[in-house]
Amino acid sequence: MAKHRVGVLGGYFDPFHQGHLRMAQAALDGGYVDHVLVLPAGGSPDQPCVASPEDRWQMAVAACSVDNRLEVSRLALDRSDASLPVETLRRLHKQDPKSDLYCIIGSDALMRLTEWRHPKELLKTFPFLVCPRPENEDIDALRSQVESLSALGARLIFLPMDPSPAASCRIREGSLPENEEFLNVSVREFISAKGLYHQEKRISRADEWLDQLFGALNPHRFAHSLSVARTARHLAQVHGIAAYRAEEAGLLHDCAKCLPLKKMQQIAREHSLTRDPAFLESGALLHSLVGAWVARNRYGMADPEVLDAISYHNTGCPGMSRLAMCVCLADSIEPLRDSFPLLEKVRLLAEKDLEGALLLSLEGTADYVQSRGKFLHPRTMQTIAWLKNL
Ligand SMILES: [Fe+2]
Ligand SMILES: [Fe+2]
Repeated sequence: MAKHRVGVLGGYFDPFHQGHLRMAQAALDGGYVDHVLVLPAGGSPDQPCVASPEDRWQMAVAACSVDNRLEVSRLALDRSDASLPVETLRRLHKQDPKSDLYCIIGSDALMRLTEWRHPKELLKTFPFLVCPRPENEDIDALRSQVESLSALGARLIFLPMDPSPAASCRIREGSLPENEEFLNVSVREFISAKGLYHQEKRISRADEWLDQLFGALNPHRFAHSLSVARTARHLAQVHGIAAYRAEEAGLLHDCAKCLPLKKMQQIAREHSLTRDPAFLESGALLHSLVGAWVARNRYGMADPEVLDAISYHNTGCPGMSRLAMCVCLADSIEPLRDSFPLLEKVRLLAEKDLEGALLLSLEGTADYVQSRGKFLHPRTMQTIAWLKNL
């Protein structure tokens, strides 16, 4: 049986950006590895990071949640020495001797590879998958480095991909790219909410809330929550609604989503959140009501309109506020969402007609649910009827 091949992508990831993701995906898509381990490194006195290890870890986890072939590991994170690559690889090899390990590096790192600790051992033991970097325009220097490393026994495979734009430096200096080609939307929102990299902190309790959400949600849901926060903020700005409230509601809207159904039911019963049996039997419905309770009692959210927006984010509600509409709509059109037939149409309409876009989105949901013979809560149909009469 062929050996399992694991790509190892290490770095400070200060922050993790789309160039890093593309390096991992080039190794996977090219068929060189079956799986990629992403290893954020701990701090180093030589290269102090701007963001804390925990922030870099959470951003990497959020960014990598878009591809289930990637796994983010803490193996290197809590280490403070800079001799990371060789020791991390030794430890990985010891943990899983049956797999073949491949180092994924940029051509900029290739130029400095002999400065790493124990380079000869590294080069002889592990093959390197090298991604072109825009910093390496001096082809002759690169060629001569490849020759000298090959003479030391290195196995170097250049991945066929366009050079990824260098984004980290610019971000650390305070320039956040808006384009999703450079920075995943969840990472961008994480940075803005917390005020990392010289940004103005947008959510006053972001440090506490993001830590709490990271612990309460799976990586996919965490990234989705950040993306909904950003999208809700954008919609609120476009439609003249308080953007900070939409952003906070978006961030917290799924805070109860990963609780077991039994726990949701217990909270709902103890605090008389609903008597509706349809809600009580379904986590997909109940997490919104329980989420509003959790947001108030565990996250300290006191704004009733934000709490209502959380309560109504999945079914809608006749008479819902425009803030609640932003959150409900953002939940279905945020950039990390899986595509559905009307998605692009709803996204376009959302830029000019909030009510119309929500109506289209809810109608799409109703059609989808009913065509699969699944239960649609009557409140969604009531919301559709109410929106039609507005
Ligand atoms: Fe939800
Ligand atoms: Fe959601």
